[in-house]
Amino acid sequence: PLVTSKEMLIYARENGFAVGAFNAYNMEVVQAIIEAAEEENAPVIIQISEGAIAYGGEKSFAALIKVLAEEATVPVVCHLDHGVNFSTVIKALKAGFTSLMFDGSSLTFEENIEKTKKLVEIAHAAGIPLEGEIGKIPDAAQGPLSPEEVKKYLTTPEEALEFYEKTGVDSLAISVGSAHRMKVQSVQLDIERIARIKDKVKIPLVIHGASGVMDDSVIQAVKAGISKVNFATELNKAFTHALREELSNNPDLVDVRKYGAVARENVKKTVKEKIQLLNATNKA
Ligand code: G3H
Ligand code: ZN
Repeated sequence: PLVTSKEMLIYARENGFAVGAFNAYNMEVVQAIIEAAEEENAPVIIQISEGAIAYGGEKSFAALIKVLAEEATVPVVCHLDHGVNFSTVIKALKAGFTSLMFDGSSLTFEENIEKTKKLVEIAHAAGIPLEGEIGKIPDAAQGPLSPEEVKKYLTTPEEALEFYEKTGVDSLAISVGSAHRMKVQSVQLDIERIARIKDKVKIPLVIHGASGVMDDSVIQAVKAGISKVNFATELNKAFTHALREELSNNPDLVDVRKYGAVARENVKKTVKEKIQLLNATNKA
């Protein structure tokens, strides 16, 4: 069924696992994520970013996820990932998303609090939970960041607590060493920082940019109390690599369904591996 992320993430926090949150850009990836979750008997979050909305439209994604989620036996969430514009969050809410994120991490601390708080009130009035971000998860699309660079963005336990108390967010994205859009797994997370934040802030905590994080560090982060882990680039890689290989091995192939199915299968395999890594198998 289609559900909100509220109870799902609290359950994860209390039961020593994290929910995998996977970004989708097309129908095949949405199908792959839900099929993988079904086979693992795991709760799952499908996330649609502002970029994905620009590409495919929030109403189309909301409708597709709703139909497939209602046919599924495991709980499925339709989540807005990194709503940077106030209007995007409202748009996603209107389209029927069952979980929202407002990313005010590029604003000042005060502005981030002010906008997040407003959106929490609106979302809650509609019964929908909202994820905020404090500290900033940097972008490493142009190459890996130096440890000094990463340090500038890290979340402190004190600011996390103040942000939570002043906004009332339901979950919180924290910066603990990861960066977005890394194509190679190479980063170790600050596990001690995660544990200190978890101790202070009693809501589900979220890791972004998990594609660049070493598997053992993801496992440690979940043990330290992370409840949601976001993967995007890893799925893009799985889809694209399988597609590229299939097309180059079969230059005459023109049937979208044939190569689409191959790419979809490889995404499904990746999602299953991540669900296992997060200890979410059989937690539906
Ligand atoms: O919000 C999305 C995630 O943080 C994904 O990041 O592409 O580095 O895995 P990633
Ligand atoms: Zn992210």
